[in-house]
Amino acid sequence: MLLTICVFDAYGTLFDVNAAARTAANEPNRETFKEVWPSVSNIWRMKQLQYTWLRSITGSYIDFWSVTKNSLDYALEAHGLHENFDLKERLLALYWELQPYPEVSPMLKQLKTKGVKTAILSNGSPEMLSSAVKSSNLFEVIDEIISVEKVKVFKPSRLVYEQVENVIGCSKSEVLFVSSNGWDIAGAAGFGFETAWVNRSKEPIDRLPNKPTHILKNLATIPSFF
Ligand code: 2OP
Repeated sequence: MLLTICVFDAYGTLFDVNAAARTAANEPNRETFKEVWPSVSNIWRMKQLQYTWLRSITGSYIDFWSVTKNSLDYALEAHGLHENFDLKERLLALYWELQPYPEVSPMLKQLKTKGVKTAILSNGSPEMLSSAVKSSNLFEVIDEIISVEKVKVFKPSRLVYEQVENVIGCSKSEVLFVSSNGWDIAGAAGFGFETAWVNRSKEPIDRLPNKPTHILKNLATIPSFF
């Protein structure tokens, strides 16, 4: 069947997860943080993902916002910064308005011009996702925001990918699933979606079953698949 629906992962794919720490590091009076922000940001993201997987496996779901706060606590303590409450509050506030990558808005506009249905499928809570979409002015070009909140388990559970068929009422063969997360692509490909892995930082391919259909440098060429 012809592809008619483009489904995007949110964090790391449309929205730059390093933007919160990068922005905070460039604010006044953040000398210590300026030196360590890339490491804080990296540990924050790695722990955030690990906690989602562990909570899914152990059946102890809490929402993605709680996971995001817990993982930031860990990352700050790893750098002796956990008592810097002002920094912590600032980083959390910035996470609600993460910047999109520069090509995101023009690429989504092109998809809409071609009549493609667009959606986000993310671990994020509905409030976090609405806030990120709103602050980046993407409301007009994203048709559906689908959160894991309804199924209360995180990616890469099949229950999450199934949500696309349930919410949009489509067949999986109509969907191109796009993510920068190799493990998310493996999950989506295993579910049966055609996939595009956006490998911005030239990472090695994950040694997991189900390889991506397409491997891209960024999102700019996504409209050419429709
Ligand atoms: C997302 O679901 C995994 O962060 C990724 O948005």
